[in-house]
Amino acid sequence: MDMPPSTSRKRVHIKTYGCQMNVYDSERMADALAPDGYEQTDDVTTADLVLINTCHIREKASEKLYSDLGRLRDMKAERTDGASVTIAVAGCVAQAEGTEIIRRSPVVDLVVGPQSYHRLPELVARSRSATRPAGDGQLAAEFEPQAKFDRLPKHRRTTGPTAFLTVQEGCDKFCAFCVVPYTRGAEFSRPAADILAEARRLAESGVCEITLLGQNVNAYHAEGADGPVELAGLMRGLAEIPGVERLRYTTSHPNDMTDALIAAHAEIPAVMPYLHLPVQSGSDRVLKAMNRRHTADGYLRLVERLRAARPDLALSGDFIVGFPGETEADFDATLELVRQVVYAGAFTFKYSRRPGTPAAGADQQVPEAVKAERLARLNAVLESQRQDFNRSKIGTVMPILFERQGRHAGQLIGRSPWLQSVWTEAPEALMGQIVDIEITAVGPNSLVGRRPGSNPRSDAAA
Ligand code: 5AD
Ligand code: SF4
Repeated sequence: MDMPPSTSRKRVHIKTYGCQMNVYDSERMADALAPDGYEQTDDVTTADLVLINTCHIREKASEKLYSDLGRLRDMKAERTDGASVTIAVAGCVAQAEGTEIIRRSPVVDLVVGPQSYHRLPELVARSRSATRPAGDGQLAAEFEPQAKFDRLPKHRRTTGPTAFLTVQEGCDKFCAFCVVPYTRGAEFSRPAADILAEARRLAESGVCEITLLGQNVNAYHAEGADGPVELAGLMRGLAEIPGVERLRYTTSHPNDMTDALIAAHAEIPAVMPYLHLPVQSGSDRVLKAMNRRHTADGYLRLVERLRAARPDLALSGDFIVGFPGETEADFDATLELVRQVVYAGAFTFKYSRRPGTPAAGADQQVPEAVKAERLARLNAVLESQRQDFNRSKIGTVMPILFERQGRHAGQLIGRSPWLQSVWTEAPEALMGQIVDIEITAVGPNSLVGRRPGSNPRSDAAA
């Protein structure tokens, strides 16, 4: 039933594009708005506040914003209480193109960049006050991350046993294709004590798996109680928190994979044996042009060291095809690297020209048709590796963290240590628990399992 908007209870609809950090940020914005009476709704047509959290990493991502805004303009015009709908744009497009968004889309009431989310409640309230002239969009796009973390509410309204936790933001690497150093700013690490406190609160509310987030998460370095702390040390501290059973981190640059971090994979049981380690290309020429500052061989040797430390480690990667100047021979080198590494998962992209990045102005842009054809060939190899990896788990028993209900009654879906989705018949009482499951079959996107009858751990848990 539709309820008229009131000053106390209001509804916010949040649409999130892009990476896991945007997912985390959207949750934190919802937390920040909650004290003002905002509840989240899936229904955009009855929302008092519509918040679009944008991504700027590839062309298509920012185009989506303008088509969303067109639809919202029509929706706002059709609503009888249209004047009371506030439209806010957040995220990396907001940071990069804030002024242009306000100029181009008068329907937008406010634009807030990733480091200004703590100001969202105040900006929304001001925007909804009668004194603000219509069409006078507000812009907040500072570059100072700590103020945000200090001022966002400590309390997180998490649901479920897994959570993201941002530990680091920004990037100083300046890969030639990438907008992140411009949209998220310089590398910044949150103080270890703040992260440990946030993790403790998460664990107390039932979270047992935490994914640490950062654009360059393995470059994490901050002051701790006993001196400087890097990611390995931070994870040691996190693993000691009662209830924290699984740790993951993403995304990493190969050059920041320190000896201590490699050792952490061997020594901290909570660190899951699945690592996202983007390489982008297997050609040294392209890697140099990308300003990646490592070679294909350097990456392969790193993978060897990681696997020596943790033999069951599986890897995923990011790849870009059609970077300016990429030849057929360069692309073959990427295929060769993929064959040598053998990935369990991957994200693949056609190179997308991003204004303001060094590669955008390069000659020798690769034609779209060539990019598409290379992408298809790369995907075919990676997909068959993923399927092989999944099939290799048939007959094994692995701990599954149950996260949500399955499609049918009596089914639960959970995650394996390697982030595979696993479904099985299991009582609801096992939700949020880690239970040993035997893998019996593999589907295109998930594994099927059953509880081994002789397993005392799962029997006790049920
Ligand atoms: N074009 C295509 N892919 C890109 N990525 C980043 N910038 C671009 C771009 N301009 C990819 C990289 C990165 C991932 C997050 O997105 O592979 O690792
Ligand atoms: Fe972008 Fe990652 Fe390179 Fe930083 S390290 S510039 S975030 S691709």
